[in-house]
Amino acid sequence: MKKYKDIVGDGGSDVVAQVTEQQARLQRRLADVRFVVAVVSGKGGVGKSTVTANLAAAWATTQWRVGVLDADLNGPSMAKMLGVRGHPLAVTSDAVEPPATAHGVAVMSMDLLLPADDAPLTWEAPSQAESHTWRGAMEANALREFLADTDWGALDALVVDLPPGTDRLATIASLTPVLAGTVIVTIPSEVSHLVVRKSITVAQRAKAPVLGLVENMAGLFPGPDATALAAEAGIPFLGSVPFDRSVSIAADRGSPFVVTEPASPAARAFLTIAAKIRDGLERRPCC
Ligand SMILES: Nc1ncnc2c1ncn2[C@@H]1O[C@H](COP(=O)(O)OP(=O)(O)OP(=O)(O)O)[C@@H](O)[C@H]1O
Ligand SMILES: [Mg+2]
Repeated sequence: MKKYKDIVGDGGSDVVAQVTEQQARLQRRLADVRFVVAVVSGKGGVGKSTVTANLAAAWATTQWRVGVLDADLNGPSMAKMLGVRGHPLAVTSDAVEPPATAHGVAVMSMDLLLPADDAPLTWEAPSQAESHTWRGAMEANALREFLADTDWGALDALVVDLPPGTDRLATIASLTPVLAGTVIVTIPSEVSHLVVRKSITVAQRAKAPVLGLVENMAGLFPGPDATALAAEAGIPFLGSVPFDRSVSIAADRGSPFVVTEPASPAARAFLTIAAKIRDGLERRPCC
């Protein structure tokens, strides 16, 4: 492997100019996106992707133009949950056209790029010992490419589904000049609250506001009160989505629950949360 001292200048690849050009392209692509909303939680498996899919579908059924960016590069699930897994990507000379769901939600996910043999994404580092060091930078690069190279068109909302962990929000916040805010997801358990409290702190430090806390899988455990967690942290409480196995069945079928069973309590909770966030965003003073 070459070391920096072996390279005069940077070997002629002009990495800085490449990244600057890509960032400029990203800004042009996102110029027509009104709101970028990130769905986050330090805790895994609490329903971030389910919330993302249902928020996107709920907004799309109320005439918002919506895109979903699956920022979970190692465990992508949005293509499956939104029913576009295996759909081809149309590639033009300077952009990738994301497939759209039946309700017009444009979806970009690593799952659409990987071969269908279920092999996970692997990051090739100069040596395996260094792979941990490189992973963050490579993930940020991949996400920058996704944002810069996807032809989202004009959107009202781009919903970003983040992997578990508190560190990923900073990456998205630094890449998207128009991050409108974050939605934080928890489940009713003390363990989840413990971790999510940290996520709230991280989200509050990001330059975008916290739009609020969603309690998912309500009723599954006799856990602590999510409204108290929101109040204690000084963020809005957006609502509780009950645990309902049909939510999971709908996700596995690739049809968001708000579309398949809109009258059920869980779907109504998702729809109310989506309406609250949308109203809050629409009421913001315009640019
Ligand atoms: N309200 C709910 N009722 C029943 N099942 C649910 C509910 N919300 C989510 N699920 C199911 O729980 C599982 C985990 O949800 P999901 O994949 O959305 O979590 P996640 O936070 O995105 O996970 P990860 O941290 O791995 O990205 C899924 O199988 C999903 O269908
Ligand atoms: Mg997920």
